[in-house]
This record gives sequence, structure tokens and C-alpha cells, in this order.
Amino acid sequence: MPNYPDMDHSKYEYTRKGKDGEPWNTDIRHISILYRLSLALPLDSLIVEIGSWRGATATAYLEAMRWRPDLRLRLYETNIKKPLRHLIWKSGATIRNRVDLRGKAAWDDLVEPAALAYIDGDHGWPALADLATCLAAKCHVIAAHDTYLDWPVAHGSRLLGTLLRTAAGRHYYEDHETRPGERTDRGFIVSWPVGDSNWVLPALPRELTPENTNVPLECAK
Ligand SMILES: C[S@@+](CC[C@H](N)C(=O)[O-])C[C@H]1O[C@@H](n2cnc3c(N)ncnc32)[C@H](O)[C@@H]1O
Repeated sequence: MPNYPDMDHSKYEYTRKGKDGEPWNTDIRHISILYRLSLALPLDSLIVEIGSWRGATATAYLEAMRWRPDLRLRLYETNIKKPLRHLIWKSGATIRNRVDLRGKAAWDDLVEPAALAYIDGDHGWPALADLATCLAAKCHVIAAHDTYLDWPVAHGSRLLGTLLRTAAGRHYYEDHETRPGERTDRGFIVSWPVGDSNWVLPALPRELTPENTNVPLECAK
């Protein structure tokens, strides 16, 4: 993979603010993983995101699409917010022409095998319908947020995490470490078919341990 620059998150602060101005959504280090994964995708790949809110995670794909004119992005978001439309518009004509924003759930719609699918929509049982949709469509990398979140509303995303950790024929990497000033303890998982390890592993953080992955560590070097 060419030596792409690190992602500059500073211009996207508005996408990471909650209603009260407090940041509460995806941590920057996880957005950076989605950026690196997007840059590593095979030629002409489709990226799918389920649940975009104000666009914090969408910034990862849009930034990668600046370097990769072959990538296409589809966002499923049932409650489209102005900042998300603004973000897509601001990305410029050559990128926004490759973005497809759909105001509905993925389970009625997604059949294409996206190379990267990120699930962060409804964290109750619908999260399992989103996972089933991605698996039935034969999506390659399936990543998800809040797989360790200890809130009643997150029963679906927690079980989704369990299913991806135990899925046959797939590897995973998961970060749920507690860090000051971050909410990475909520859990962020990346799962992929074993056969895609050659391009997925180089895009992941280096610190693979038996606690955060099922990749045989001698292959991870
Ligand atoms: C946790 S937020 C997404 C956060 C976003 N990925 C980020 O990091 O900023 C969840 C979003 O999913 C949307 N949503 C809820 N159910 C959905 C569904 N079935 N399909 C798609 N989006 C859904 C909500 O409207 C909300 O904007």
C-alpha cells in the first residue's frame, strides 16, 4: 500500500459533538482505523456504513476517497441530520458523486458484498438484523461499535460482538481498553474472512495480543 498521510481530524470537530456539545460518539483512534482500512481496500470497493448520525465515522471514508478515486460509499441513516448532508457536500464534487446516502435501514436493501461494512445504527436487537444483512450479502470486513458497552440499550451490539468473535472462518481485532479521556472501553471490533488477512492485517494497529484478537500471532507480524 502507498504511504498515505495520517488522517487530519481537526476540521471535522463539528461531526463529533453531541446535542449538548459533549463528545460522546466514536473515538478518533477508531475513526483512524476505518480510514486505514478504507485505504487498504481492493480496487473498486464499495464501503457501507449503517448509522452515520452527524458523520464522525463517515469522515474516515471520505478522507480515504480523496486518495482513492475508485472507492464508492453508501450510507444508511434513518434520521438524516444537516451536518451529515453538509459533510458530504463539503467533500467536493469528485467525492460526493460517489456517495449514496439512503434514508432507510439496510436490511430491506443491501445485497452487494461491500468490501467494508461498519455497523453503528440501532444498538438493540436491530443490530443483529444489520449483522445478518451484512453476512448474507457476503460483506468482507465487518466492523462495529459498542460491542462492550454496558448499557441496556446496547444488548444487540454486545451480542453482535460475541457473534463476530466466535464466527467460523473469520478473524477479528477488538479494542475495548479503558483510556483516560476516551470511551474506547465501549468496544470497537473489526472482523474479516481469514482469506482477506493479507490486506486487512497491515491496516490494523500493531498491538495484537491474545486478548484483543484471534489472529495466530505468528501470522500477525
Ligand atoms: C450511534 S449513532 C451513529 C454514530 C456515527 N457512526 C458516528 O460515529 O458518529 C446511530 C445512528 O444510527 C441511526 N439509526 C438507527 N437505526 C438505524 C437503522 N436501522 N438503520 C440505519 N441507521 C439507523 C440513528 O438515527 C443514529 O443517527
